[in-house]
Amino acid sequence: MPRCCSIPPQSRDRRTLRRAAWTAAVLTLAIAGCNGLSHIAPPIDQTMLTSGHSARALELGRDIYLVQCSRCHVAEPVYDYTANEWTAILPDMCDEAKLNNEETQAVTAYIDACFHADKPQ
Ligand code: HEC
Repeated sequence: MPRCCSIPPQSRDRRTLRRAAWTAAVLTLAIAGCNGLSHIAPPIDQTMLTSGHSARALELGRDIYLVQCSRCHVAEPVYDYTANEWTAILPDMCDEAKLNNEETQAVTAYIDACFHADKPQ
């Protein structure tokens, strides 16, 4: 077998390690980035869970809010609008974003939970 094609096992291990290190770095940045967005979309906390929505739905809703809802315009700070204003705006915007039923329910649950949170409104 020509030498160029035989990868010594220890260098393969090193590559796996390097990839793991990168993944960890990227994840850390992503998480730090999301915390930096808390003035736009507050992270899920205990008080929000009193809204009765599952943590899973709320996490999904917040992800959708930060990602899908910032495709056409910046994601607006949730508390720039009242709960009533959201009731009028959100269904249209879920259509705009072409969210499926589960995604629409998740982002609607998330906005609802934001108004159960112990945060300035
Ligand atoms: C396909 C593009 C698009 C996507 C995706 C989108 N929006 Fe919008 N959004 C718009 C446009 C265009 C306007 C301004 C015109 C209007 O109000 O319809 C707007 C306006 C808004 C406003 C201001 C409304 C007002 O009356 O002041 C809010 C709040 C908003 N979007 C939230 C969201 C949320 C939340 C999502 C995700 C569910 C979202 N948008 C996804 C295009 C989009």
